[in-house]
Amino acid sequence: MTDPTRENFLAGLLVNLLVTSGITDPMENAIRIMETARGNDQGCRRERALEMAQALVSGMPLSYVLGKQTFMNAELMVAPGALAPRAETELLGVTAVELLRTLSAQRGAGANEVHVIDMCCGLGNLACGIANAFRPARVWASDLSATAVALARCNVESLGFSARIEVMQGDLFASLAGRGLEHTIDAIVCNPPCIFSRRLEKAGAKLLRYEPREAFDGGPYGLLIYQRVIKDALPFLRANGWLMFEIGQGQDGLMEFLFKRTGAYTPVEFVNNASGEARVAVAKKRRRITA
Ligand SMILES: C[S@@+](CC[C@H](N)C(=O)[O-])C[C@H]1O[C@@H](n2cnc3c(N)ncnc32)[C@H](O)[C@@H]1O
Repeated sequence: MTDPTRENFLAGLLVNLLVTSGITDPMENAIRIMETARGNDQGCRRERALEMAQALVSGMPLSYVLGKQTFMNAELMVAPGALAPRAETELLGVTAVELLRTLSAQRGAGANEVHVIDMCCGLGNLACGIANAFRPARVWASDLSATAVALARCNVESLGFSARIEVMQGDLFASLAGRGLEHTIDAIVCNPPCIFSRRLEKAGAKLLRYEPREAFDGGPYGLLIYQRVIKDALPFLRANGWLMFEIGQGQDGLMEFLFKRTGAYTPVEFVNNASGEARVAVAKKRRRITA
């Protein structure tokens, strides 16, 4: 049984610590920490909750502190070594689910599964979120990082998606070659590393304190992985299959240029976030390359 007086005291202690350290949403964060620490016995609980609050104050992402996060209604295990999923990435997952639902409806009753690749999958948040929201989705997820792949596999298994999501390790599409997937993919989602290497050196110290460099470093202009994916996705996409990226603020013009110069995609369209910023780029593979 939990003692309400002790509970209130601990809650007050945590909120006070978080408020004085300038943490946003101190009350909500304190409640989530207390809930997570509840698994420990009464003696260890206060100690564990305070440790977690201290880690949050030191700048550790909340999902690392809690060891879990909900993404598109799927509860995921989260741990250092793979990017802590950002809430804004749900826009990419939700956009993909909407397009796949429309595609499935157009194909009509009795239509088979839809095929999706989650490239640069991290701990599998997009793959699991899409599979969770849309049952006909069969997903191949891949990442370079062994830690991310191990976590993604744990998430797939614990959510019961092993029959619908396969997780592979490799450099972009290398891990997908030779599996008979060429020309079968309806949609590729990708949230690639996109920060300029030099900017990461200068201003990224805070990010790199807890999260891995390979999740952020997009090469000299932040576009290296976008460029490679735009080119290397083509053999896998069906005609009219979608390539969808999460993009950084103000990257829409560059995206238009990168897609257009291949001559292989329809004009890129953008999905805006709640603040009206273009944060998802979507283009379809043309039936015929026009360049
Ligand atoms: C910005 S994180 C995205 C993680 C996850 N998809 C998400 O949305 O939160 C980028 C991911 O790309 C992976 N990555 C970087 N270079 C890669 C490459 N050449 N091939 C495959 N994955 C790569 C990183 O390991 C990292 O997990």
